[in-house]
Amino acid sequence: MVGMFPMGFTVGAGSKSTQNRRGYTRVMKATALAHPNIALIKYWGKHDRVLNTPAVPSLSVTLAPFKTETSVTWGTPIDHFVINGVTVAGDASARVAQFLDLIDPKRPPVAIESHNNFPTAAGLASSSSAFAALALAASTAAGQALNPTALSILARQGSGSASRSVWGGFVSWTTADREDGTDSHGHPIAPKDHWDLAVLVALVSDQKKAVSSRDGMNLTQETSPLFGGWEASGPADVAEAKAAILAKDLSRLGTVMEHSTMKMVATMFSAQPAVIYMQPATVAVLHAVRALRAKGIPAWATMDAGPNVKVLTTPQAAHQVEATLLQHVKTVHTLSVGGPARLI
Ligand code: DP6
Repeated sequence: MVGMFPMGFTVGAGSKSTQNRRGYTRVMKATALAHPNIALIKYWGKHDRVLNTPAVPSLSVTLAPFKTETSVTWGTPIDHFVINGVTVAGDASARVAQFLDLIDPKRPPVAIESHNNFPTAAGLASSSSAFAALALAASTAAGQALNPTALSILARQGSGSASRSVWGGFVSWTTADREDGTDSHGHPIAPKDHWDLAVLVALVSDQKKAVSSRDGMNLTQETSPLFGGWEASGPADVAEAKAAILAKDLSRLGTVMEHSTMKMVATMFSAQPAVIYMQPATVAVLHAVRALRAKGIPAWATMDAGPNVKVLTTPQAAHQVEATLLQHVKTVHTLSVGGPARLI
């Protein structure tokens, strides 16, 4: 079957279909691709843990060529989930099974095969592309044609940051006013082609982090005395970043991005016990980025729930920034603004 879903998702080469007993065509297998995103203004803390709605709004840029590709077969003998060639078990498997139940509580067993072309669970936003790709592949395989907003609401319930990876380019994610959380989803601010930026990932470590972002943010929210200030200042940061993106003002965007990052890190450090994702090389890279700026080179740093540093710069300055970062880490990935989640 090749058909155009509302809002432009095409079911084509990557999907298999069958006629069910009632005679309508149902897609049984679908493959989707999603890019991860990094938050320029951070999501850190939850309003509702069951609905997975955020305590603060956030804003991100979707990044290529990092990607997750996920194939879902809807209707197999048993649930079987494979990520990067390894069968998923335990809590991770339960989290995926629960997510599939959101699509259809009476679902059949499902097979998932997913692959990342970058390190998983190392603070490189792998859950953002993972749940965006899974939401699109699984809902398509289940025969549901969700538009991007519905897809973002679904993806949010798998992992908050995934609500933003449904879109390419620059995306904000709003908090919920409604009790059922349905107004908490991604909103496209500007598409991929709006602004050609470079994001360099200084890879301090590609190891799976000891404290997941979910556990880190919950502990922070429960114990940091700084959390109230963090929460109160979030909306203004999103407004400032949005204005900077629309005006293509990199210095303005970099400044508010670093401020959001450091406020988030302050809440982590002031948790009880403290959540410390940084390693010595992380701090060295932060200083190197400041030194670049002092020399007039456009570079601003951000971090997430991990030791790696992402540096926002222009494509023109990327080479020089990379050379500086390589004095502190062995590997630097240079990424550009990516497109939306799509069926392949
Ligand atoms: C620091 O989206 O991984 O990267 O919703 O619990 O799955 P869950 O959390 P997740 O958290 C990401 C936190 C962050 C900041 C961000 O991406 O906005």
